Amino acid sequence: MTSVQIAKTVDELQAYLGKVRADNLTIGFVPTMGFLHDGHASLINASTQQSDVTVVSIYVNPLQFNLNEDFDVYPRDISSDLALCKEHGVNIVFMPSEDEMRPFLSEKPINLGKIVKIYEGESRPTHFQGVATVVKALFEIVKGDYAFFGEKDFQQLMIVKQLVEDHSLSTKVIGCPTVREHDGLAQSSRNVYLNQNEREQCVVIYQSLKAGSEAISNGETSIQNIELLIREVIGTSPLANIDYVGIVDPLTFETPDNIKNEVRLLVACHFGETRLIDNFSAKREVVSNQ
Ligand code: PAJ
Repeated sequence: MTSVQIAKTVDELQAYLGKVRADNLTIGFVPTMGFLHDGHASLINASTQQSDVTVVSIYVNPLQFNLNEDFDVYPRDISSDLALCKEHGVNIVFMPSEDEMRPFLSEKPINLGKIVKIYEGESRPTHFQGVATVVKALFEIVKGDYAFFGEKDFQQLMIVKQLVEDHSLSTKVIGCPTVREHDGLAQSSRNVYLNQNEREQCVVIYQSLKAGSEAISNGETSIQNIELLIREVIGTSPLANIDYVGIVDPLTFETPDNIKNEVRLLVACHFGETRLIDNFSAKREVVSNQ
């Protein structure tokens, strides 16, 4: 196992990456907020497979937390994060301080259009502006050939792709499938907040998305019926408090009149103090005549 380099400043990181580029090697980048789990590890694996050198950033970005959110208590465990990075073949971990990042963060809001105002953007009004500001800065610092993002945060993935296109950034964004616990719960750094009852019951999110996508693959085309079904399954948990259920076109994020093509099923739901999000792709199964 090779050792992991640590860069706390942009200069240290760029000195390392300058040599990598001089050797004509490709750079894969995995931006994170730390407290790494198997979901992050899957992005790192995708990067090490596709690129010669993998950079992971660990930066709990204050800009993407709303005022009433969990920035101060967001879970952190640097030594376990570094062990995971080492185990999965990361070459360098970038761990900047807020002071180090500040000069790179655009003060002007980034125009991202209406996708930042709906679903996650409606529930967390300044969230995506904060994500876009830090991701743009990180992309400009790292200048990776590829960057790997989880479909777990599907709306974030779409926004990052749009950011890259709008600003002609040189990094290609690659979406990777959601990694789940054995019972289907999507892995998330925030799952540690759940108490035992919440942890047992929150599997209804996965079950509701699975039920919705199975109904669509079996031919259901009504948006209302799918939404009802998802709400009904989540409603079997007394602790669940739904924030939104969305059924959207995966590119435009608009809700179609009825389901003809592939859609994304989106759910955000509170269990006690903890807010969880998840999503599934769904489309009608094509039945062949032969
Ligand atoms: P964070 O929540 O740490 O997630 C980092 C990356 O891991 C994101 O691309 C996220 O979608 C992905 N990820 C999280 N859980 C996953 C899972 N179960 N399966 C697959 N991928 C998963 O997302 C952020 O940080 C921040 O917003 C960031 C992009 C770093 C900007 O601050």
